[in-house]
Amino acid sequence: MDNNFDVIVVGSGPGGYVCAIRAAQLGLKTACIETRDTLGGTCLNVGCIPSKSLLNSSEIYYKARKEFTNLGVETDNVKLNLSKMMNNKNKSVLTLTKGIEFLFKKNKIIHLKGKGSISAENIVTVTDNSGKKKNYKTKNIVIATGSIPTPLPNIKIDEKIIVSSTGALSFQKVPKELVVIGGGYIGLELSSVWKRLGSQVTVVEFLDHIISGMDKDISNEFQKILSKQGINFKLNSKVTNIRTIKNKAVVDFTNNETGKKERIECDKVLVAVGRKANVDKDISNLGIQLDSHKKIQVNKKFETSIKNIYAVGDVISKGPMLAHKAEDEGIAVAEIIAGQAGHVNYDVIPAVIYTSPEVAMVGKTEEQLKKENIKYKIGKFPFLANSRAKVNNETEGFVKIIADEKSDKVLGVSIINALAGSMIAEAAIAMEFGASAEDIARTCHAHPTHSEAVKEAAMMIDKRPIHF
Ligand code: NAI
Repeated sequence: MDNNFDVIVVGSGPGGYVCAIRAAQLGLKTACIETRDTLGGTCLNVGCIPSKSLLNSSEIYYKARKEFTNLGVETDNVKLNLSKMMNNKNKSVLTLTKGIEFLFKKNKIIHLKGKGSISAENIVTVTDNSGKKKNYKTKNIVIATGSIPTPLPNIKIDEKIIVSSTGALSFQKVPKELVVIGGGYIGLELSSVWKRLGSQVTVVEFLDHIISGMDKDISNEFQKILSKQGINFKLNSKVTNIRTIKNKAVVDFTNNETGKKERIECDKVLVAVGRKANVDKDISNLGIQLDSHKKIQVNKKFETSIKNIYAVGDVISKGPMLAHKAEDEGIAVAEIIAGQAGHVNYDVIPAVIYTSPEVAMVGKTEEQLKKENIKYKIGKFPFLANSRAKVNNETEGFVKIIADEKSDKVLGVSIINALAGSMIAEAAIAMEFGASAEDIARTCHAHPTHSEAVKEAAMMIDKRPIHF
């Protein structure tokens, strides 16, 4: 193989593989290195995709047991076959990772298998499974090595009883009692999966609210909904110890305010207290500058402190750790390397939690605007007053639009609803085009759809909703 490349991408997650495809589209001779046997990184192999498969299957199972009868759909003897559910998940993962392999071939991207290390500004070394090393010359390097779970101090993840999200996506039996440390994205999505499948679930969260970073209104409403679904919450609580005794775990935690100590015995513990940049010596040994969180520092063009070495995705200090942010950065950096003007708008990056109902947001929260001293107005519309949500029995949640007090420009949108994850795209487009709330209010929305609630929330800003 001729090993003189224009771009070598290290890592094939959403940041890396998308960057490689865009670079190849732009005529750059591209290779992508991946340590895993399959392409797609955390997202496709042990993150977004398998979790969405289990969220979907577990929701159908739950509805079949609890809700179908009310709709006049009589089902006898609905039973869980967990190993089939897991097989279906694995099949989805395989199909999608194979899909990237196909796209690599189609775009003539060289897939280098093994661990990549940056040996010089223009040399990447790949060490394969047998330990054999090979050097590749390249004009540009893009680091897209992603992130790994943050451990809790002194707690060892064994992926059997004390697990990370990877372990919690592959339990062979439904745990009778599951304790989840961390009330963020991973904690709440996986709590939902196992609760629906029959586990007793307790979420222990350090802060006094769940999903920090989202609008407080949303966080409060979401917690109420999840509590109604039977998930227990221990907020404001610091885990002090987790021990395993035979096949069980004992979790000790203390309330930050009252000092009250509590203990829960359980079958499994999921530790989901955040993720950290995946930067080891192999990547940083040329002296690439890191920030105080040990993430790679990049400039506007995604260049690291070393010329012609770029970085994108979870591994960099910009933006949230989200797959779609990484994808957009991957595209932008490929275009920049090709001499174009790649760009990512960090003000308009949607975030979604794929529970039931879903939670989604884009732009600023009310708390952020208060902090920044920006005057705003709010329009809030409940799904209880939306006809489609009503006929579908999906009346939980609301749309909240925040607009600038003077200009009426939309500054942030948050939604809780069954379809929030798809609905937030409308808000993102509106914000990307600098829309005012009035623009949304004057846009014809199909009836009957959940999306009418977005229009009505915009009308609410001017206190003229029709159905409330
Ligand atoms: P997260 O940052 O969303 O939530 C972690 C939670 O753990 C926070 O609420 C934090 O206050 C809490 N916490 C931290 N230390 C604690 C302690 N010692 N005891 C109790 N609570 C503690 O992180 P998470 O859920 O692990 O997700 C990691 C990353 O993966 C996130 O950045 C997220 O954006 C991404 N992700 C995105 C998904 C999506 O887009 N739907 C799904 C899953 C993950």
